[in-house]
Amino acid sequence: MLVHAITSDLNYEFASDVRAGLTRTGQKELPSKYFYDDVGSTLFEVISHLPEYGLTRADERLLRRHASEIVERLAMPVAVAELGSGSGKKSRWVLEALCRKQRTFYYPVEISRSALAMCERELRDIDSISILGFEREYLDGLLEVAAHRKYGQHLLVLFLGSTIGNFDRAAGVRFLIEVRRILEPGDSLLLGTDLEKPSAQVLAAYDDELGVTAAFNLNLLARVNRELDADFDLGQFSHMARINPGARSVEMHLRSRRRQRVNIPGADLQVEFLEGETIWTESSHKYSTEEIFEMARNAGFRCAAQWIDEEWPFAENLLIAE
Ligand code: TRP
Repeated sequence: MLVHAITSDLNYEFASDVRAGLTRTGQKELPSKYFYDDVGSTLFEVISHLPEYGLTRADERLLRRHASEIVERLAMPVAVAELGSGSGKKSRWVLEALCRKQRTFYYPVEISRSALAMCERELRDIDSISILGFEREYLDGLLEVAAHRKYGQHLLVLFLGSTIGNFDRAAGVRFLIEVRRILEPGDSLLLGTDLEKPSAQVLAAYDDELGVTAAFNLNLLARVNRELDADFDLGQFSHMARINPGARSVEMHLRSRRRQRVNIPGADLQVEFLEGETIWTESSHKYSTEEIFEMARNAGFRCAAQWIDEEWPFAENLLIAE
């Protein structure tokens, strides 16, 4: 076991992203990557245990059940990069199956330092694993991983949990094209995708009874208060999830309960909100199984296998770079 981390300071971008998002004409927005500070990463861990949010458990079930089959299909030797590892729990099964065959380098790429630390603690007991974490955005991290590649070594990229769904459809394909550019033919991408399901089930998953998702969403404003010295009154904003039928997505917003003004000194900004005005914080797109094959093709991959969970419509897709 070998554990290292390459860290960076991404904070300088926060103020300018907050400024850009809250001064847009029309829909105000805040980028969802800022959900994942220490509090947000911990709240997301809790979300993944909620009865209404079956996504993470479906992802994990598929990975556990099909780990050997997945590994059988990979060209060896292979190193593993994971985009957004989170706690790393779900990755254990594939990594263990691989480590039974070869010493395996595992490179988690994460913008959350606390998630990276959690992930390293979670997985370091696996025999024959070397872990090197990168505190980076996805593509920057993947480029660095590719630069560490040894001659003849293939790459398996894990992009789990349906994070692809947080891009709109066109941007999702553009992202897959960027990933494909960094890969070599024969490398693979294991892609998790949440599938279409009844609206009521989707809404409940993003607006749970306990209010954990609401807290997760509101933490974005709390983070602006903490890091940019702002005075958002969290009691004056509410969490809102709504289906966008045209986009086949669920949108998350923070809705202003009244007309109000907020000061954000750290971003050199004062923002006005109308009553009922919202800040859009994230969308989560849901897919059909056929559409995933097409996205893969359009990005220069072939979908070699697809596994679907029986309890919660979710697919694990093994894409091979052509
Ligand atoms: N990527 C996760 C998803 O789309 C993130 C998530 C879960 C999320 N619940 C949320 C983001 C609530 C914002 C609000 O499922």
